[in-house]
Amino acid sequence: MKRHIRYSREDASLLLLDQRRLPAEEKWFVCRRVRDVEQALWEMVVRGAPALGVVAGYGCCLAAATTDETDPQWREQLEEKMSRIAGARPTAVNPEYVVERMRRAWATDLEIELDDLRWMWDRLAAEIHSEDIAANKAMGRNGLELLWDGCSVLTHCNAGALATGGYGTALGVVRAAKSAGWNVRVVAGETRPFLQGARLTAYELWQDDIDVRVACDNAAAVLMQRGEVDAVLVGADRIAANGDTANKIGTYNLALLASWHKLPFYVAAPSSTFDLDTASGEDIPIETRPEHEVTQMAGTRITPRGVPVYNYAFDVTPAGLISAFITEKGLIRPPSRETIRSVLE
Ligand code: MRU
Repeated sequence: MKRHIRYSREDASLLLLDQRRLPAEEKWFVCRRVRDVEQALWEMVVRGAPALGVVAGYGCCLAAATTDETDPQWREQLEEKMSRIAGARPTAVNPEYVVERMRRAWATDLEIELDDLRWMWDRLAAEIHSEDIAANKAMGRNGLELLWDGCSVLTHCNAGALATGGYGTALGVVRAAKSAGWNVRVVAGETRPFLQGARLTAYELWQDDIDVRVACDNAAAVLMQRGEVDAVLVGADRIAANGDTANKIGTYNLALLASWHKLPFYVAAPSSTFDLDTASGEDIPIETRPEHEVTQMAGTRITPRGVPVYNYAFDVTPAGLISAFITEKGLIRPPSRETIRSVLE
């Protein structure tokens, strides 16, 4: 996969491959100001928790680049822009994690000149981007212990290169398997309503010549019953201290189905997606999105006018349904407050 997040310091711009248009067309969305970044995050030009984190880092760089150092209030203005970036998609913890890192770097020298802060942040944002890719690759290698040549995994949403700095979490494990010379078959659940599975997972795996087949979300049970699935492998948006995991709406359904069919259910996520300050899934904020995403398909209304709909973007899978977490620091199994702390700390 080519790099889909491109920041240029010289040009003070951030180019994002517009995921709303994939796979039909490859168009770039240009961010020059923080409000462009907010729009890109909320409208899902870019999505996927680790990718949101990487973009949040570059968003802070754009915030600094577009702040006027002659204004005596520049620090307050910058802080306000950073809070907007951190909160643009509330369930994913990665933007908060990255903005907090940028803040901590700034806190080492609160009297720093704005131009020096810009240099420091540009370097840090690029470092966070590279770290994310490196963590994905390590996670991919660690995940190989759970798969085998010829196995078939069911995935949900898109937890691939497009959802991260590059490479992928759940799909990173599949990429690592391919690099090891294995043939792993991927069933991509279509993922209503935004269709991240049908559009994005299929697009990036097809491009990389990885065996992928799209299934309607509601085909998952029958595919498991017919032995078409050996394991479920998904990503995460936020993992609470006890292992309860928020991910794309429909993930919880798959965990329940996997449990009934006695199939393993794996979550691949970098340590930056673990939020040890959040005790359990009940405390994870769940994003609700505009109704039109459910009431319309490709711009055409599919529900009667005036009928209300649910559009929760995420659900929470209880830790008890998760067989293992795959992280860059190692496998965590079985998930519990203690096993999570011992691997991550
Ligand atoms: O609404 P999205 O597309 O941002 O949701 C993305 C997911 O749920 C992913 O599974 C998750 O962020 C992990 S991506 C590596």
